[in-house]
Amino acid sequence: MADSAAVTYSAGDQAEGRFDRLIGNSATLEFVLEQVEQVAPTDSTVLIEGETGTGKELIAHAIHNASQRCGSAFIKLNCAAIPLDLLESDLFGHEKGAFTGAIAQKIGRFEMADKGTLFLDEVGDIPPALQPKLLLVLQEQEFERLGSGRTHKVDVRLVAATNRDLVKMVARGQFRSDLYYRLNVFPIFLPSLRERREDIPALVTHFVKQFSHRMGKEVDSISPETMAAFQWYSWPGNIRELQNMVERAVILSHDGMLHNPLHNNQRTGPAWEDSDPALILETLEEAGWVVGGPRGAAAKLGLKRTTLLAKMKRLGISRPISQEGTEMVDMAREIIC
Ligand SMILES: Nc1ncnc2c1ncn2[C@@H]1O[C@H](COP(=O)(O)OP(=O)(O)OP(=O)(O)O)[C@@H](O)[C@H]1O
Ligand SMILES: [Mg+2]
Repeated sequence: MADSAAVTYSAGDQAEGRFDRLIGNSATLEFVLEQVEQVAPTDSTVLIEGETGTGKELIAHAIHNASQRCGSAFIKLNCAAIPLDLLESDLFGHEKGAFTGAIAQKIGRFEMADKGTLFLDEVGDIPPALQPKLLLVLQEQEFERLGSGRTHKVDVRLVAATNRDLVKMVARGQFRSDLYYRLNVFPIFLPSLRERREDIPALVTHFVKQFSHRMGKEVDSISPETMAAFQWYSWPGNIRELQNMVERAVILSHDGMLHNPLHNNQRTGPAWEDSDPALILETLEEAGWVVGGPRGAAAKLGLKRTTLLAKMKRLGISRPISQEGTEMVDMAREIIC
C-alpha cells in the first residue's frame, strides 16, 4: 500500500536504473539486468520471453547497446507484421526479377544487420516453411538472396523475442524443435508487472515526468489513492498499459496533482482488479475496516465508497463477527460523514 501522503518529487529526481531508459529496482528486474550484462558481450543468441508490454524490445536494445556491436546497426523485424509471402525476401533480400513484383534488387535484414544485431520480434510467428531457412542461416551465418545462387556471409548476432509459449508450440508441431533449441541458447524471461509491483511507483513517477514535460504541464504530485490504485491493478498490458494510463492521467490533471484516471471513467478503461476478494479483504483489514473517508479502503482501492460496499455485498465480505459492535459504529460514522 502506498503511503497516505501524496508522492511528490522534484524535476531532478533520478528514477533511472543501471541501464538507460530501463526503470525499476525490483529484485526481479535486477536479475534480468544481471543476465543482460552477462550475455551482452558475447555473440550468443538470446531469446526474450514475456507477456505483451513487459519491455522485451527495450531489453533487446539494452543487449545491443551493452555489446561490442553497439557501434553497428540494430535491425528489427517483426515477424508477425509482415505478410508471409514477403517475409522471406525481407529476411534474406532478393535479386531483381526473383519473383513477380521484384522490380529491383533488395537487401534483406540479415545483410543490413551485418556486424550488428538482428532483433526478430514475435519469432513464434515465423511460418513453418521458413523455419528451416532461418535455422540454416543461424547455424552457418550464410544465406542466399532470393533469385540468386550466390552465398553471402554475414556476422550477425540474433536476439529474438516472443510472447507465445514456444515449448507448447513445439509440442503441437507448430514450431521446429531444432530451431527452438538454436534460439534458446540464452533465455531471458521478463516477469509481468504484477509480479514486480515494487517497480510501479518509480515507473509512474518516470512517466509522469515524461508526459508532463512533453505536454508542458506541471504535475508535481501524485494522489495517494492514484498510487494505491496503480499498485493494486493487475496490468494485463504491463508497462505499456501503465504508460498509457499515466499519459491519460496527465492529460486529465488540472491542479498539479495526478488523479486516478479510471475513477470516473470505468467504461473506457480496462476492468480494475477491484473485484478480487483477497485484495478487498486485505485492504479492508489495513484500513481497520473503515470503508469511506480519505483513509478508508475505498480510497485505497481507488473506488467510490458505495461501489466498494456493493462489491463487498456481492462477494459476501463483511467485518468479522467479533467486531460487529464497532462495525455498527463505523457504519454510523460513514453515514454521518
Ligand atoms: N523497465 C522499463 N522502464 C521504462 N519503460 C519501460 C520499461 N519496460 C518497458 N517500458 C516501456 O513500455 C513500453 C512497452 O515496452 P516494449 O515495447 O519493450 O514491450 P514488449 O515486451 O516488446 O511488448 P510486445 O510484446 O507487445 O511487443 C515501451 O514504451 C517501453 O519503452
Ligand atoms: Mg515488442
